[in-house]
Amino acid sequence: MAVADSQSAHPQKPDHLPEAVERRVEDALAALSLEQKVRLLTGADVWSTHPEPAIGLRRIVVSDGPVGVRGEQWDERDPSVCLPSPTALAATWDEPLMERVGALLAAEARRKGVDVVLAPTINLHRSPLGGRHFECFSEDPLLTGRIGAAYVRGLQAGGVGATPKHYVANDAETERFTVDVRVDQRTLRELYLAPFEQVVAEARPWLVMAAYNAVNGTTMTESPLLASPLEDDWGFDGVVVSDWSAARSTVAAARARLDLAMPGPIGPWGDALVAAVRSGEVPEEAVDEKVRRLLRLAARVGALEGVAPAAPAPAQPSADAAARLAREVAAAGMVLVRNQGDALPLDAAGLQRVAVIGPGAAAGRIQGGGSASLHPHYAVSPLDGLRAALGPRVDVRHALGARIHEGLVPVAGDQVTDPVTGEHGVYVRFLDAQGNAFHEEHRAVGRLIFIGDFRANRAATIEVTTRLRAAEAGRYRVGVAGVGAYRLTAGGQVLFDETIAPDKDDLAAMLLAPPQRAVELSLAAGQEVDLVLAHAVAPGTPAVAFSLGVEVPALPDEEELARAVELARSSDVAVVVVGTTDAIESEGFDRSSLALPGRQDELVSAIAAVSRRTIVLVNSGGPVLTPWRDEVDAVLLTWFPGQEFGNAVADVLLGAVEPGGRLPTTWPSREEDVPVLSTKPENGKLVYAEGLHIGHRAWARAGVTPAYPFGHGLGYTRWEILGVDAPQSVVAGAPVEARVRVRNAGARRGRHVVQVYLSRPGSAVERPVLWLAGFAAVEADPDQTVDVPVTVAPRAFAHWASGGWQVEPGVFTLHAGHSATVLTRQAAVVLLEP
Ligand code: BGC
Repeated sequence: MAVADSQSAHPQKPDHLPEAVERRVEDALAALSLEQKVRLLTGADVWSTHPEPAIGLRRIVVSDGPVGVRGEQWDERDPSVCLPSPTALAATWDEPLMERVGALLAAEARRKGVDVVLAPTINLHRSPLGGRHFECFSEDPLLTGRIGAAYVRGLQAGGVGATPKHYVANDAETERFTVDVRVDQRTLRELYLAPFEQVVAEARPWLVMAAYNAVNGTTMTESPLLASPLEDDWGFDGVVVSDWSAARSTVAAARARLDLAMPGPIGPWGDALVAAVRSGEVPEEAVDEKVRRLLRLAARVGALEGVAPAAPAPAQPSADAAARLAREVAAAGMVLVRNQGDALPLDAAGLQRVAVIGPGAAAGRIQGGGSASLHPHYAVSPLDGLRAALGPRVDVRHALGARIHEGLVPVAGDQVTDPVTGEHGVYVRFLDAQGNAFHEEHRAVGRLIFIGDFRANRAATIEVTTRLRAAEAGRYRVGVAGVGAYRLTAGGQVLFDETIAPDKDDLAAMLLAPPQRAVELSLAAGQEVDLVLAHAVAPGTPAVAFSLGVEVPALPDEEELARAVELARSSDVAVVVVGTTDAIESEGFDRSSLALPGRQDELVSAIAAVSRRTIVLVNSGGPVLTPWRDEVDAVLLTWFPGQEFGNAVADVLLGAVEPGGRLPTTWPSREEDVPVLSTKPENGKLVYAEGLHIGHRAWARAGVTPAYPFGHGLGYTRWEILGVDAPQSVVAGAPVEARVRVRNAGARRGRHVVQVYLSRPGSAVERPVLWLAGFAAVEADPDQTVDVPVTVAPRAFAHWASGGWQVEPGVFTLHAGHSATVLTRQAAVVLLEP
């Protein structure tokens, strides 16, 4: 039985701007020639659109999120607040908190002169191997949609446009520019389009980004899905912007509902589009519509003279306030998946010696790689955080235990001195073709990225000079990570002078993770060596990115491990921080394995065997295998927790706050158990053959037990679900208001996320075994019982068939519980025909 649109979960009305603004937009449009209009539809450069002074239009500046706002410069002198990875944000299951995150990002955007943030990323965790898994929220469309909508609401309430991306089915990175995702209509609607629909309906984003990939044979920047359902069914009235270089054709992209081709100034539109309009291949009205939408965006963000922005600029939070929020969110997203014998929280008063071990202990990973990455103001490591919280009375010691980083690390800190300024860092000179320096500057780090930047655009050569000091004797490797021509000298002697060829055809991935060339140098302790790296800039190149790097001598692995084990043996507690690297979780490629890199599994087991108490922190953006989990006392998943990593860890481990997170994605115990694993297209096609069954739905269908199920997470108190009440029947199209009776059965106040799933026994249509239908947070004191209202939207009862939303009247079972696998109470609801 079909349900009318008005009965579905979402209102379908577009947001009209005030009449006077619409008139201003029309007048501006009418004043433009075809050439002027078309010019507006391609970026002026990498991060902004063209201004048009004749109509009082200034440029619109865009910048990547989602964990912060980088701004137009990729430069450590222009740092940003760095919040936890989206996997951590979703793990909070906390919409009000996400609105506060959005508000902070709006303030960051305004501080950096940014009008539009290119976030949130609302693709789904179809496979845990997906390279940008950390950048997406969840494997579940409802959780993704609700968290995404809250993020967008918070951001846009601060007058900054949000850009849910990447529309649609960009759920992996392999062959990302060309892969053709084959997916049936029902699966598209119920899974991959669903978060976009919910975010559009509930938060009215001002932009949506069209993805690189194709869906069912059409590349997304030309896809009919941009018109329908995005605009026609859901009423999206904003700008569709291409992913960077995703617009590939003049006519097909212009005839599609794509509005803005980024980056610029070169692109498939420009003069070619003017000609296509003149020849009648593209109707001028199509161009007018695109410009109209761009002008509306300009009006909303305050880029159109005489029009007040949609929201006043937010007040700038103090650095302290931003840090507090970053710390709160990081702890709220941390998921305690195991806590044997209440190993956590630790009682600080009983501790004398604490070992903080592992590759992430002194230098944790606070963010994922790729276009989402930024320069944070600072990063607090778990070691720093615990030392600060425990104070001088407790002896907090560190051992690396296992090395996971391979290759060069950009020079930074006290290992290098800028020979010109005497500060730590490097000195950079930009030389013209005659060899004259036209710009010089000190930089703190040997990693340099210039995108659409005057310094790199004018330079024939960029020269980086520094003095490297060997902290200890041994074999060092020095070199460059980059593509193009490089000459490196040490003490005047040429180490190499050659051209490094690209090793991939993905420009973004190559800029962010370029190939390396290094040479070994044997240095005595305290020895200094002057390094000069000269890069010949390829003429006309839009982006230059390279780093001067070093790899310092390391202890043999056995010795590193033995030191850590000794430290753990002599400590009251061992906190072991394991995780992935930026060579594993980033953009432009997928993961090849879920195992922790290096000898980290061996490290954890060895520590667990000798330590009185072993607490493992898993510092990864997505799932990893945890074969040692039953050997240790507690396992806390921290994700990539942002700049406040160590402080949030200390808060959670010492019990100042609860670990608030619940899993937004299933953690498997073995790769072979994962229902959908491969992200490799065959002959250019990636077939979503599993249909509706991804994530926890697929695990339930396979009947396999994961390491940790979707929705799971422990706090510092215990919860009982005493019952669930729901109306016996509901007319299709109306929401179900359920009440879940919950008791705090532990000894401290806490917060829990009550989850409600649906199933349909004996269904005539294929369905998931169970699907998430609603959730709500509850806070309660010890022994307090609370009736938690949980709304199940009408859409949860509907399925897509024959080109519309349908319902199957009859009995649905509503399951209430703590996770996708611990559902302790049921109620039956009869769905009636309207
Ligand atoms: C990414 C987008 C990003 C854009 C601009 C692309 O490579 O896929 O998510 O917004 O670059 O940096």
